Amino acid sequence: MRRGSSSIAANPVLIGAATTLVVLVAVFLAYNANNGLPFVPTYSLTADVPSAANLVKGNEVRIGGTRVGVVDGITPQRLANGKVIAQLHMKLETTVKPLPEDTSKLTIKDIMDSRVDPAGDFLFESVVDVSDAKGIHHRQPHTARQWAEVRRQIQILIDAPDLITLPGRKAAHPDERSRNPAVENQPEQVERLIAAQRADFVIRGGRLRDAAKVAMKAADQKNPKALFKAISGIDKACESCHLHYWYPNEKRAHQAADEEGGIIP
Ligand code: HEC
Repeated sequence: MRRGSSSIAANPVLIGAATTLVVLVAVFLAYNANNGLPFVPTYSLTADVPSAANLVKGNEVRIGGTRVGVVDGITPQRLANGKVIAQLHMKLETTVKPLPEDTSKLTIKDIMDSRVDPAGDFLFESVVDVSDAKGIHHRQPHTARQWAEVRRQIQILIDAPDLITLPGRKAAHPDERSRNPAVENQPEQVERLIAAQRADFVIRGGRLRDAAKVAMKAADQKNPKALFKAISGIDKACESCHLHYWYPNEKRAHQAADEEGGIIP
């Protein structure tokens, strides 16, 4: 016999109090369900949409059928060109953060400019000997945080090949032309070369991934010498791809590659 519970059931004051509490919790939940999300951590996100004609405050935000948030405000915005758009303020569960960026519309040039090139630059400067009037200074990552940043940049290069070689990926947007047409292919020439031998393109992307994985091992071991060597392997993987698709007619680049040796065909 559980004496405690039988005594609550027998006490009309306690029953009344418990009922009030249950009703209060229910009201609280209902209120929160309308105004946000009950008991889940949320964050705010604002999105510009051309029209919010069919949306009202309180509408649910769903991903694949699951409710992940609510619209908690809609404000009209006038753009510089006079057009009016709607700004949606949403509250989303932190479990869906960050929303994946739509990478399907990126071009190879976008991926180079926004990810691959900045990561490459960071790494090429992370282990170097800098010489100035006072002599030669060796630069390399020292602190745990610096090594973590090196690993983060290497990871970008490990992930990039899948993005670059996605079937249907354009070289550049339609209005973009080569800045240096005497040596660089136009985007449509790049695309033709890729389409002619897609499998080779995927292999060349794989070489960047492999080189970056070697660098990751060196970074895991916090070994600057091994990292330096691995980074020159990354450089070769970049160059081997560019020599084929981007500036295949650049004689000096081919010569330099030959002199350095080891550029994979
Ligand atoms: C799998 C092939 C491939 C690999 C590997 C690759 N690239 Fe590229 N990259 C390209 C192609 C193709 C273009 C030319 C795109 C175009 O038509 O503008 C390009 C263009 C570029 C550009 C010029 C972008 C612009 O604004 O015109 C830069 C900078 C660049 N790559 C940097 C790098 C670096 C740094 C690496 C190595 C860490 C690298 N790429 C590895 C294929 C590759």
